[in-house]
Amino acid sequence: MKALVCVLMFLSAHHFSQAQRLCGTAEYTKQLLSANPSLQQQYAKIDKQIATALNAKNQQIANRDTSANELIYIPVVIHILYKSAGENISDDQVRSQLESLNNDYRNLNADTVNTPSAFKGLVADTRIQFCLARVDPLGKSTSGIDRKYTDNSFFLTDDAMKSTAQGGIDSWDSKHYLNIWICRLSGRALGYATPPGGPADKDGVVIAYDVFGARGNIRAPFNKGRTATHEIGHWLGLIHTWGDAACGDDHVDDTPAQSSYNFGCPSFPKLSACSPNGNGDMFMNFMDFTDDACMNMFTIGQAKRMRALFATKNIRNEFLNSFACDSSVVQGGPLPVDTSVVIATPVASVKIYPNPVHTAIMVEYKAASQTTTKNITIYNAIGVRVFTTAITKEISSFDLSKYAAGIYIVKVNDGKNTSVTKIIKE
Ligand code: ARG
Ligand code: ZN
Ligand code: CA
Repeated sequence: MKALVCVLMFLSAHHFSQAQRLCGTAEYTKQLLSANPSLQQQYAKIDKQIATALNAKNQQIANRDTSANELIYIPVVIHILYKSAGENISDDQVRSQLESLNNDYRNLNADTVNTPSAFKGLVADTRIQFCLARVDPLGKSTSGIDRKYTDNSFFLTDDAMKSTAQGGIDSWDSKHYLNIWICRLSGRALGYATPPGGPADKDGVVIAYDVFGARGNIRAPFNKGRTATHEIGHWLGLIHTWGDAACGDDHVDDTPAQSSYNFGCPSFPKLSACSPNGNGDMFMNFMDFTDDACMNMFTIGQAKRMRALFATKNIRNEFLNSFACDSSVVQGGPLPVDTSVVIATPVASVKIYPNPVHTAIMVEYKAASQTTTKNITIYNAIGVRVFTTAITKEISSFDLSKYAAGIYIVKVNDGKNTSVTKIIKE
């Protein structure tokens, strides 16, 4: 650690004014610098090279840009932390949030009609979409909703909810999932987000359980899912429309300057000291602080800024390689159990024998003549699918002679029920 401090001090020469005798190198470099001030520039140059190299190393790169009209899909995992039953929000409440998000980001929300005509031409369909993950980081099937009882009565904005050790839940790989933590926040806080570029294990969004979603027990006036829309805007690199300063700059050309934030539900036009023209503030922008019922738009400039993060070499580029919403890529398969028994809802009268098997297994499926489709799928012990076919007869034989000895999982499915059986191949 001491050595690291030394190296950092050596390279970050501009910090020396604050540095007190941390190590010999610092003292030495300080002397060098006072004798030769132009060295400062050299140090700064190296600093920059290191930062660039570190970034390149930390990035796995999808190696392709987004195409102009590409719909960008962001797999989402919802980590729900609850102490009381009310904090354990329902699946339906979660689904209502996903619906709001997808409508807001594609400008399909019903209240888009409330955007004043003066701003209508600026409204964006961001073509960014959110889906609940169907595959977890280990390749196993998931609903994308992850629930955990916690002893914490509430959480602060100190990221404890992102750490299993602190009563939260560790994040899933943030290059391929948007992590959203739902919990009780202290006071009346609504939520917070990490802007792109912070520590990977803390990357994501936190939303209070009672402002997440548009159906369920949700606190007005934050009951249309816009807190998540707003926070994910931050996660996608947007800052508040007033640029977090009096008439500040939000780095977006088509959002007008505002003297500050708006709340409640102003009426149009809402003029402020730095409004460039009679249209005043864009208080209905998702990146203002107005009530959920009063916000209804992102601008084209904001959409461009968000989408730029997915371009080649940019920080969220790897999402273009995230297929976590596609349940067909599930690799985990069912887990082996100790005995050769049915571990899922049994399909009426499925028999699989012999077990252990040497060459072929027989699958007896009594209702095989009915019109429903039946399938048999066989997974190896690490969950890779090795065989799948339709079952067309009451008794079928499947040759397993070419498979290695070991444990296999046989899944028989009729579209409604699944029977899962462990077999041993000898
Ligand atoms: N105050 C919060 C923030 O700065 C979120 C505001 C969300 N507004 C809303 N109407 N839901 O990030
Ligand atoms: Zn904000
Ligand atoms: Ca602006």
